[in-house]
Amino acid sequence: MPSPSSIPRHIAIIMDGNGRWAKERGLPRLAGHRAGAESVRECVEACKELGVEYLTLYAFSSENWNRPAAEVTALMLLLERFLGEKADELMKQNVRLRAIGHLDRLPEKTRRKLDKAINRTAGNTSLTLVLALSYGSREEIVEAARSLAADAAAGKLDPATIDCATFASRLYTADIPDPDLLVRTSGELRVSNFLLWQISYAEIVIFKKFWPDFHQADLFEAAQEYARRHRRFGAL
Ligand code: IPE
Ligand code: IPE
Ligand code: MG
Repeated sequence: MPSPSSIPRHIAIIMDGNGRWAKERGLPRLAGHRAGAESVRECVEACKELGVEYLTLYAFSSENWNRPAAEVTALMLLLERFLGEKADELMKQNVRLRAIGHLDRLPEKTRRKLDKAINRTAGNTSLTLVLALSYGSREEIVEAARSLAADAAAGKLDPATIDCATFASRLYTADIPDPDLLVRTSGELRVSNFLLWQISYAEIVIFKKFWPDFHQADLFEAAQEYARRHRRFGAL
């Protein structure tokens, strides 16, 4: 396990490959999504053990709405079940739940269950688990630009004073530090509209295995790899 000083404060994960995992086994895609929920539990435990402060999981992208309606519905039901079943566990683990994304697009029932779990865990003080739901980084950036423009047009903001910090304060992640480590499973070498602003200097670790095969030991391995990296932030 890496020394505490080299532990990433924030890990972000693109949980990819559920469908292919299921296909390999001759199972419906939903079986892969279901199996992936267990990997989430393992990652939460591993992050707690390491002392990571934030874990952001890409659970549903704004582009994922374009999937067949049956898969979208199944994913929403799975999310509702996850929220219902995991709330007690999150309380026991002192984990605070949050969500980023275009949450208004979620079905009302899903949104209600999400809000309930977020409110219930709001006072917890160990890991913060951030679910990216109906999340798209370009939309997030456009919304931030729109809100700054509206303030400027209303005379509440001088455009000359807009800097990186001002801009970041309008993103969903305003009060969350940028990810130090970005993990993606299933071997794809792309970021798929995830936290484009926030991962500017994140270290990237890609796993070939599919998300349902990702276990605690893999998260520890990613953290170890992170500890070996030399972050330069453009300087020497
Ligand atoms: C990740 O697995 C879960 C979501 C995007 C909701 P996929 O569903 O993308 O599985 P693959 O990539 O098609 O195998
Ligand atoms: C990214 O995976 C989104 C999530 C993990 C929720 P996708 O499977 O949707 O991304 P692409 O299509 O491979 O880029
Ligand atoms: Mg995928």
